[in-house]
Amino acid sequence: MSAHPRTLATPAGTLIIYSDRATACQVAGDRMGSAVREARAKRGRAVLGLATGSTPILVYKRLVEQVQAGELSLEATSTYNLDEYYPISPLDSHSYHAFMHQHLLEQIGLPPHQTHILDGTVPEAFVTAHCAEFERWIQADGGLDLQLLGIGRNGHIGFNEPMDLSVEQALKLPTRLMPLHPVTLADAAADFGGQPDLVPQRALTMGIATILAARSILILAFGAAKATAVAQAIEGPITASVPASLLQTVASRVTWLVDEAASAELNKC
Ligand code: GLP
Repeated sequence: MSAHPRTLATPAGTLIIYSDRATACQVAGDRMGSAVREARAKRGRAVLGLATGSTPILVYKRLVEQVQAGELSLEATSTYNLDEYYPISPLDSHSYHAFMHQHLLEQIGLPPHQTHILDGTVPEAFVTAHCAEFERWIQADGGLDLQLLGIGRNGHIGFNEPMDLSVEQALKLPTRLMPLHPVTLADAAADFGGQPDLVPQRALTMGIATILAARSILILAFGAAKATAVAQAIEGPITASVPASLLQTVASRVTWLVDEAASAELNKC
């Protein structure tokens, strides 16, 4: 029987393998709290990049616990979310606005001006300007201190789907509107009452360049369904067809927190 957690140096960053996802999520929540404290001590404010999906739910629970216990203050802290479906109303229960309010924002009472989520109601003619404005807000806040990520079964990060681009082109991608990949649409259908027709076909997503500029990146992956994507991202070639493999270009700033099942296809484990 192996001891847990196990820590390995990989081409895509530090990999920590946990026997259970609850512990991994607790560690992720604690690291986010530490990132806030350190950034505020260093430059007077902190900026967190947040993710949605089933993976980070327990991370937010841990963050809420710290705030409610008075161990963590989110004063002078801003948050920026990775993505949002398009088009979608923030009042739609399937929106990432609704997700964030349910799992984090309501419990910690973060004032609206401290939280930023891409707007799925922006008219299409203004999407480019809206995305550019989102980038400017992050810059004006001093950049992301920590970006939390999940990973799609197809290796996507945020909604940066597998792309037929050179690595050089992919690394420059800004926040933008993206068509969703069939695998993503199929996976998202479960959240839309099992009805694929209800899933928006596109989404707004923080860009690859925006994500990789974060001062630290915490990526979580749990369950056997993620094992292939994790192995390709960590041990495969750096390619835009597996967007998470682009994390290899900033490996010194990346930590992977995974469970046994998600690490099962890694050769070194
Ligand atoms: C969605 C999100 C991603 C997330 C992925 C995995 O596509 N846009 O940011 O990483 O789902 O979701 P889950 O954590 O539910 O497996």
